[in-house]
This record gives sequence, C-alpha cells and structure tokens, in this order.
Amino acid sequence: MQLVHTPSAMATLAQQWREQGKKIALVPTMGWFHEGHLALMRRARQEADQVVVSLFVNPMQFGPHEDLTAYPRDLQRDTELAAGVGVDVLYAPSVQEMYPAGFQTSVRVARLGKGLCGASRPGHFDGVCTVVMKLLHQSCPHLAIFGEKDFQQLAVIRRMALDLNLPVEIIAHPTVREDSGLALSSRNKYLRPDEMEQARCLYRAIVFAREKARAATCALPAKDLCREIQENIEQYEGCKVDFVAIVENDTLENCEAVNENSRLIMAVTINNKVRLIDNASLLSAELL
Ligand code: PAF
Repeated sequence: MQLVHTPSAMATLAQQWREQGKKIALVPTMGWFHEGHLALMRRARQEADQVVVSLFVNPMQFGPHEDLTAYPRDLQRDTELAAGVGVDVLYAPSVQEMYPAGFQTSVRVARLGKGLCGASRPGHFDGVCTVVMKLLHQSCPHLAIFGEKDFQQLAVIRRMALDLNLPVEIIAHPTVREDSGLALSSRNKYLRPDEMEQARCLYRAIVFAREKARAATCALPAKDLCREIQENIEQYEGCKVDFVAIVENDTLENCEAVNENSRLIMAVTINNKVRLIDNASLLSAELL
C-alpha cells in the first residue's frame, strides 16, 4: 500500500490509473478505523481495481466547540489496518495542503443539509460537501462509498453529486453494529465501558420503534411515535435526545404517518459528553 500526502501526487496517480483503464474507488474517512470503515474498504476492493482511502480530519466540518482537537488520530495504526484489507493508496493530506492560505470556497446543499444534524451543527454539511468535492477531484474515482450510519450525510452527498453532475457513482453501505446493536463509530472511543452500556439506548429505541411500527393496525402518526421514542431513550440516566425524527428515506422530509418509506433518524448525547447518531428503516423486513 502506498501512502500519499499531497493532492498533486494523488491526482497524478489517479490520472495514470485512468489512462490504464483502471476502475477507481474512493472511501472517504476521518481515520481511527473500526470494522465499519474496514467493511467499506472491503466493499471498494470488490467493486474496483484501485482502492483509495482518504484519511483527513476535516476542520471545516467541526463547529467551534466540537471535538476537532480531541478526535482520535493514529496514522500508524490506520496504515496497518488499511493495508490488511488490501487498500492500494492511503491518502492522508495535511490541513495546509487541503486548505491553503486564502481558501474561501464552500459547497452547500441548501435544504437537505439544514435540518436534523444540520440544525444542531450549523455549517457541518457545508464542510462535508466541500471536502468530499475536493477529495473526488483529487482522486478521480468512478465510485465513492459511504456508510449508511451517517444517513443525512449520504443524502446530502447524493444530492450534491446529482446537482453538480459529478461523474461518480455514490454507493451506500449498511451500518456495521456491535453484537449489542451499538453502531460502530470512531466517537465510541470517547465512551467509558459504563457509557457504552448507556449508548445502547439508541439501538433499543430502534428495536422499540420497529416493533411499534410493525404492530400498528392503522395509520401511526409519526409525531406520536417520535414522542414515545424520546421517552424510551430518556428513561435511561444520562441519555439526552438531541433530535428524533421520522422522515422519508429519499427527501428527509418529515413523515405525517409511518409508511414503507419511513426512516427513524436520531441523535443522542451521552452524559452531556458524546453525541451519537443512528438511523434505521422502520418497516423493512431487515434492519437497514
Ligand atoms: O463520514 C466521515 O467520516 C466524514 O464526514 C467524511 C465523509 C470523510 C468527510 O470528511
């Protein structure tokens, strides 16, 4: 596996692969790899000839009081993990290379990026779109793979790719969970063992909501179910709902009543310390 640190070296390599007719896959990440990331990399390995994994903790998507400096980083550890699943290039540019002095452009997906996580993290999705756009330009992939755990991010990126005619296929990969149901996330590293137990309130809420939705014999108002989900989560000490929403899968508009296309999306803060997100389809046979 090759380690690449500059946008120009990445672009040169991608150009060579393109000339050789190779299919390129990009997996954008912020590092501190876990099984969820490795699943995306394995998927990329199946889909393409050349697999690029970007590793960049993107300052532009963190708010002023968020965890940019605390975000876990370990290039050596991540290099070994990526090499172990057959990645061709680990692309880890510096902040100076990505945002040189004078940088002032951003990409905004107006409506999709505003609500849900966008409401509590203003500007977050502008930062995500801008960096993903740059990574796509630098690595010229035919396809890019994103996890469904960040469901709003996936919707925003799909919209950006469509709106800006980006010649790249956006592929979604299912959330990877611990046996307990907790969705894997780099931010789980902030949790003590007792807090890991508290964090399972998100998965318990998903199971609760899916059971309610599937048992309903008539139209189930989404607002009522959201209220019950919030109560279900907040019965556990230290678990505070940021938002719970039931939205249409594609548009992320609020649903009036639960339907085949409904998705539960939520963000919960554990002990005023770690904000976790999760989502699931409410009526699909499988927990997608
Ligand atoms: O999902 C992430 O890790 C980040 O938001 C991404 C897509 C790598 C952009 O920085």
